[in-house]
Amino acid sequence: MSISLSSTSPLLLRRTAAITDEEFRELRDFIYAKCGIWVDEKRKYLFENRFGKRLNELGLKNFGDYLQLLRHAPGRDREMQIVFELVTTNETSLYRDTKQLDGFKTHILLPLLAEQRKANRLEINIWSAGCSSGEEPYTLSIMLHEELGLDLKRWKIQITGCDLSPAMVAKAKSGVYSEYSFKTTPENIKRKYFTTVKDGLKVTPAVAALTSFSVLNLNDVLAVKRIPKSHVVFCRNVIIYFDDAMKKKVVGSFYENLAPGGFLVLGHSETLHKISSAFRPKFISGAVAYQKI
Ligand SMILES: C[S@@+](CC[C@H](N)C(=O)[O-])C[C@H]1O[C@@H](n2cnc3c(N)ncnc32)[C@H](O)[C@@H]1O
Repeated sequence: MSISLSSTSPLLLRRTAAITDEEFRELRDFIYAKCGIWVDEKRKYLFENRFGKRLNELGLKNFGDYLQLLRHAPGRDREMQIVFELVTTNETSLYRDTKQLDGFKTHILLPLLAEQRKANRLEINIWSAGCSSGEEPYTLSIMLHEELGLDLKRWKIQITGCDLSPAMVAKAKSGVYSEYSFKTTPENIKRKYFTTVKDGLKVTPAVAALTSFSVLNLNDVLAVKRIPKSHVVFCRNVIIYFDDAMKKKVVGSFYENLAPGGFLVLGHSETLHKISSAFRPKFISGAVAYQKI
């Protein structure tokens, strides 16, 4: 059987068959092997909902045909990008979890700035791994603007944002956000660092200047090695989608990437318990960050 992407049909020609248990397992294992995202059997409906529409667009009648296409069709790499869009959860916002960010500022960022000043090494690298549409890297850039003010121009600051989803990375590069992204952003910050454009509010060029964005799969160890060495890695609300084996792999990459004594910041309810003992937990106002030993 030959299945090609050129069979794409804009019309809903037929109702897609329900996914069988075997097809679910095959598709789940295929996705896991590509990007480490693990979909539990209980969330089988998620595949039916999210992929059903795509199968219809392609004019495919069942998930077996879709798997064939993902494995063998010319253009399968392009289709894989669509799979990544369908399988990821991209929820994020500016100043997400303000309490944790305050703890980060007091216990990690300010001491790091002081240490760098003392050593006359005015540079900071931060990696936002799984940055979605960019709100987290821009928040970090704004925090640095707030702390350093005019002194910022003496510093070399690099905030590297990366994500599996090309659509999210494109949105991050545009730096334009709707009101939803500002739900926990202080009003003065919103006024100071964003300007009104046709489609929403756009981050100022000065804030954008500290950031860069690229598509990156955290499962791709070689690509991950190319990320500049960091003083801090932010990876909040990402490893919850991985199983323990993938968590260990990714956390191992963060360890390699971090400078000695550098910090890994996970989502406030995420932990390295049973994943890695290579970090020392540090309490930062009700949350925990992990310091490379
Ligand atoms: C819920 S968002 C978190 C965004 C941000 N870190 C935050 O906390 O607001 C999770 C992001 O992780 C990304 N992601 C999932 N698996 C990934 C992988 N293997 N490589 C890179 N990014 C991945 C998803 O595309 C998604 O944008």
